[in-house]
This record gives sequence, C-alpha cells and structure tokens, in this order.
Amino acid sequence: MLRIFKQATKETLEEIAEEMRVRQTKHFILLFSMGSQFDHLIVQQLAKLGVFVVVADPASVKAADVTKAAPAGIILSGGPASTYDEPPPFDAAILDLGIPTLGVCLGFQMWAKHVGAQVTPQEKREFGIHEFRVKSPVPLFFDVMPRTPVLESHGDAVEPGSVIEVLGSTDNAPVAAGRYKHLWGVQFHPEVTDTAEGTKMYENFVGRICGIIDRFPAHSIVEAKTGELCKVLSGKKVLIALSGGSDSSVVAYLLKNAGCASALKGIYIRGIDRPDDEAYVQKYFGSQDWIDVEIVDAIAAFLKALKGKTVMREKRFAMRDVYKETLEKKIKEFGADFVAQGTLYTDVRESGHGHATGARVAEIKVHHNVKLGFSVPEISPLEDQVKDTARDIGRELGMPEDLLIRHPFPGPGLVVRIEGEVTAEKLHIARAIDGIYIEELRAADLYNTVWQAGATLTVSEHTESKGDGAGMGRVVALWAVWSVNGFTARAAKLPNDFLEKVSRRITNEVREVGAVVYRISDKPPATIEWG
Ligand code: XMP
Repeated sequence: MLRIFKQATKETLEEIAEEMRVRQTKHFILLFSMGSQFDHLIVQQLAKLGVFVVVADPASVKAADVTKAAPAGIILSGGPASTYDEPPPFDAAILDLGIPTLGVCLGFQMWAKHVGAQVTPQEKREFGIHEFRVKSPVPLFFDVMPRTPVLESHGDAVEPGSVIEVLGSTDNAPVAAGRYKHLWGVQFHPEVTDTAEGTKMYENFVGRICGIIDRFPAHSIVEAKTGELCKVLSGKKVLIALSGGSDSSVVAYLLKNAGCASALKGIYIRGIDRPDDEAYVQKYFGSQDWIDVEIVDAIAAFLKALKGKTVMREKRFAMRDVYKETLEKKIKEFGADFVAQGTLYTDVRESGHGHATGARVAEIKVHHNVKLGFSVPEISPLEDQVKDTARDIGRELGMPEDLLIRHPFPGPGLVVRIEGEVTAEKLHIARAIDGIYIEELRAADLYNTVWQAGATLTVSEHTESKGDGAGMGRVVALWAVWSVNGFTARAAKLPNDFLEKVSRRITNEVREVGAVVYRISDKPPATIEWG
C-alpha cells in the first residue's frame, strides 16, 4: 500500500480501493501530515479504532486529488511551523470541499486563518497538560467529561471572534476548540495519552462526524479470534511454527491469550533463517511457562533438498517439502491435535488461493505455508489479516514492540535471496550481507522508516580490484520498500551516503562480493522479494 499519498493517479486510487476491499470498508481518512512528532500517533489512534487512514503529502495533494480520492474525512495534523512563519505548503481549496475536517493545533490554526479568524503568536507558548472545559455538547465532545485534561504544545493561538464557534477553552487558550461549518479544530493534541479522552474525541470525529461505521478494529478481532480459537482448541495440543518474525509471534500470543489449548509447543526451524531470528525466538519465547520451545536444526535437510536446484520455483518447492516434513515429524512426536501458523492474507492471496473479489487470482508465487496438507488440521488465525493489522492485533495483546516491528521475512527465508544453487557457503554470505545491511539501517535510524529491506546474492559476477589483485566477485543487490501491508510497495529512497557506506562495508567485509547495486523497482511490476 501507499506509504504517502502524493497525487490521485489511477494507481494510487486503485491501491486505496484495494485496501478498502481488504478491510471491508467504504471509508478512509486522509491525514495531512504537517510534520508533527505526533503524526504517527494519530495513525495509531485511528488504527486502534479500526479506521483506515491514508497519510497525504500537503505539498503535492491538491483539491482535485482529494475530490477524486473521496475520503470520508480529513485530518490536518499539528506541525513545528506556524501560519506566519514558513507555513506548510497546502492547497487551502481542500478546506472548501465540504468534507468533514479536523484540524489539530497548527492544522486548526491553518483552517481558522483560511476562514478569516485571527491567529496570533502568543507571548507565552503553551506546553503541557491543561484542563479543557467543554463549552458546547457538540458531536466532537459527545460523552466527554465537561472538564478533562489535554496536552497543549503551541505558540500561536486562534483568537475569539465572530467567525468561529467556540466549543471549549483552557486557562490560556480561549478557543481551545472551535468549529466553522464542516471544519472542526482543537488546539490541543487528542492523539497523545496525556489527553485523557483523546481516543473518544477521535472516535466521535470518525463515527459521529464523518459517519465511518464499518471498522476493522484489532481489539474486537482479538476477542472474535479468541472465541473462534477456543471453539476448536479447548483441551487440545497445539504445535506452532515460530520464525522469530511478527506474524507467527502474534499467533503464539493469540493462543496464549485464548488460554484454552492444553499444551503449546513452538518449533523453530534453523537453516535458512536471518542471522538473528533464533535469538528473537529464544529471547521472547525461550523461557516462558506457557510455551515450550524446541529448536530444530534442519540445515543438512535443506541443503540436501536444494542441491542442484537453480530455478526459484523449484527451490521454493524443495524448501516447502523440508519445512513440511520437519513439522510433520514434530507433530507426531508431540502428539499435536493442531498445527498453527502465522500465514497472512497476503500469503494466501499470492498463492492464488484467497481472493478479495469474486475474480480469479493468479498464483504469483509458491508460499511455504499455504495448503501444506499436514496430518492434523492447520489453524491460521491471521489468514484474513494483512501485515499492519496483524501488528495491531499484537499491540492489542501487549506484545513487545521490538518483536512486532521486525521487518517481514519470507518463510522460504534466504532461499529466495540467493540466486542459483543454494549452498552452505552462499547461505553464509547471504547472512553476512543481511547482517551488515540491517545493522546499518538500524544505526542510521532507517530501519523503522522502511517496511522491509533485503540483500540478494546474485549469480552475476563483477570484475573487482581489491588491493593489488584483480578478480571476480559476486554482485549483491540491495533493496528496501515502503509499504503498509506488502500488497504493493514503493522502492524506498534511501540516502546515497547511507548506501555508499553499506556498499563499502559489504565489499570490504565479505570477501566474495565484488559490487553492490540498489534495486529501484516498485511492486508492481516487481515483487518485493527477488525470488
Ligand atoms: P512479495 O515478494 O510477494 O512479498 O512481493 C510480499 C511479502 O511476502 C513475503 N514473502 C513470503 N512470505 N512465504 C512467506 O511467508 C513466501 O513464500 C513468501 N514470499 C514472499 C515477502 O518477504 C514480503 O514481505
């Protein structure tokens, strides 16, 4: 999905429509991000409410783009600028479209100025928690206490006058909330937890003002999933395939939360994994009393099955067979009644099995975890979820964020990041380059800004000149994408000096590599993984 909506093109509108189909909603909120440090919290608040939010770039999205996209509501976030000093570029005609709009802090001041109200710099900037007094029982403050703490952080303020209806005030801000026709504004930040009833205000805005009723809320999904799981799993033994990634971890926590299986056993299959996957499994599941974890070393089995195979589809099938055999053996040993997996809707869909509409869906690639046909029934509680909603479920379950925000990793692991035959030596190289790339992404604070990043060991050779010698070295292809759920993705624009640093480290530290390139294709047409 779109990382940031910049323009209403056929592709971007289709991406939004596709996401709405997945979420079974007809509505979305367009959030104009004016640069506030709290922008992401607004996205999280709306996600918690099950509302699909698309972040828009105020510099490029014009009124015509908004009309074409047709959001149910608009939010203008706060930001570090002021309406006088380098205000964010924004097409004010968007405010005249009649779409319900909520301005937060700077966003409020922006629309207030547009409709002719006075916005003035205050001598005393207002930071911190203040008591907000609701003046008027309007829909935005439905069920909100008449006096409630809010967090303010602003230098300018909207002045009282005849243009804007005042909805509430704080000691220092006579217009702490206001309204003009379809435009609503608050001077404080409802998205931070310090604003005690902020979630209620967002709920009121999206529900009562924008009329968004069809939701995809993680919390009610947790309840529903728990109920469904307990219907079939009560008193049963469940084996779960743990990968160290977020999806299988969410499933494990769902099973823990449901608490109705008689025993839970986690299996981690070692062999084609990232350098740190096993450590994550050990850290978060290794010494828990609710799950018993076993690490199975399948390196030899994977290498044997992959020997001589160079076609990616064949390699995927070979990997799938070992994965299935390994789990099947453990199912028998444990006497499992069910096997649980972290399969997402995306995996099912790409395998040509699931479908968002009635239309036939093409098989894009063979996924290792779809329709494996174990001797016991499979349960995949996230089969109807996409990556970000699965993460939201994890958040609702109180899972560690560190585990949830790990980049996705394909089940076939490094197999899809190694061109040609997979050998022990190539696995070693693939791990080394992945390790360097991810380490540098974290060091540069870029890890969380990209959705997924990977390094592929290609079969291409590049002439190299290292020291006084010359020879041939492998070409490594780096890639990184911006996405929401992996259905579609944009090549991430990583800073050049960062890429240079990674390239330097890889070519210096990994003897077999002669050159490093960066992939700039989006999905579609490319897929995220190389193979
Ligand atoms: P693609 O490459 O299909 O990737 O654009 C979309 C997301 O799915 C992951 N992926 C897989 N995950 N089994 C999985 O469990 C697979 O066979 C598989 N292939 C791709 C990929 O890493 C990305 O996050």
